[in-house]
Amino acid sequence: MKEPKPFAAMPIEIDLCSVDRHTGPDNSLAPASTLEVTVLARRIRDDESLTGREGWSDADRADVDRVIEGPPRERIAARRTLTRQALGLVAGPDAASTEILRTCEHCGHPGHGRPRPAAGGVHISASTSGRWVVVAVAADPVGVDVESVDAMGDPDLVAASVLTAPELDRYLTVDERGRAEWLTGRWTRKEAVLKASGRGVPDLPEPDVSGDTVGHRGATWIVWTWRLAPGVMLSVATGLGSRVRWVAAI
Ligand SMILES: CC(C)(COP(=O)(O)OP(=O)(O)OC[C@H]1O[C@@H](n2cnc3c(N)ncnc32)[C@H](O)[C@@H]1OP(=O)(O)O)[C@@H](O)C(=O)NCCC(=O)NCCS
Repeated sequence: MKEPKPFAAMPIEIDLCSVDRHTGPDNSLAPASTLEVTVLARRIRDDESLTGREGWSDADRADVDRVIEGPPRERIAARRTLTRQALGLVAGPDAASTEILRTCEHCGHPGHGRPRPAAGGVHISASTSGRWVVVAVAADPVGVDVESVDAMGDPDLVAASVLTAPELDRYLTVDERGRAEWLTGRWTRKEAVLKASGRGVPDLPEPDVSGDTVGHRGATWIVWTWRLAPGVMLSVATGLGSRVRWVAAI
């Protein structure tokens, strides 16, 4: 991978989440290893589906146009645009225009699999929630998930359906005022691992994501969680030994 260039815009102010040690082992964002994860995050614009088109492939355009107009279309458009920008930034202009495959590695479905550049070399993951879009690019398989606390619904109901039994015990010890955020952090950790593994939500409530490292389906992932903005949680899961290189607004 090429050395990423510094971003021109201000980095987002990152609040490392102290709840239940939901961070990486050393809380560091500094590059230190060849196994780097570059994370880009920004707010979604109202006109993503009109302004992003230039960098898209024909498949990107078709995927976006298939989605009903409104916030869902702007969200998929934002994921496609930021994915292309992230690939270009990390792996060069050829990678930015590569075909992205979404075939499921588990069942062969053409559309619900982990996205991967046909050219190989790097792994990608994308997520949107509310007004936020996040993309991660890494040398190892990677999963990213962003979620607004407000989008989670009734915390007690959600907790009962998505947490493992030990996680549910832990949830019940969290102060009631902090439960919604705690749960949202847990949720993003699970989705990040499930995206890194390519499985998605069918595996819920597994995996248990209490530790800094998480085992799931024979693989072990390192997982970081941040409060991206007030009420917005972000998690990244990737191979052991990796480091988050940047979290930045562009
Ligand atoms: C993956 C999943 C958790 C995404 O969560 P979401 O809340 O819907 O949406 P997000 O905005 O956070 O993420 C969307 C991104 O998830 C990614 N994604 C979709 N399916 C994925 C999978 N199986 N593995 C990894 N990432 C996946 C896509 O890249 C998508 O972005 P893109 O359309 O720009 O490529 C969810 O769609 C899911 O679980 N889908 C079911 C997958 C499935 O059917 N698996 C069965 C295996 S046999």
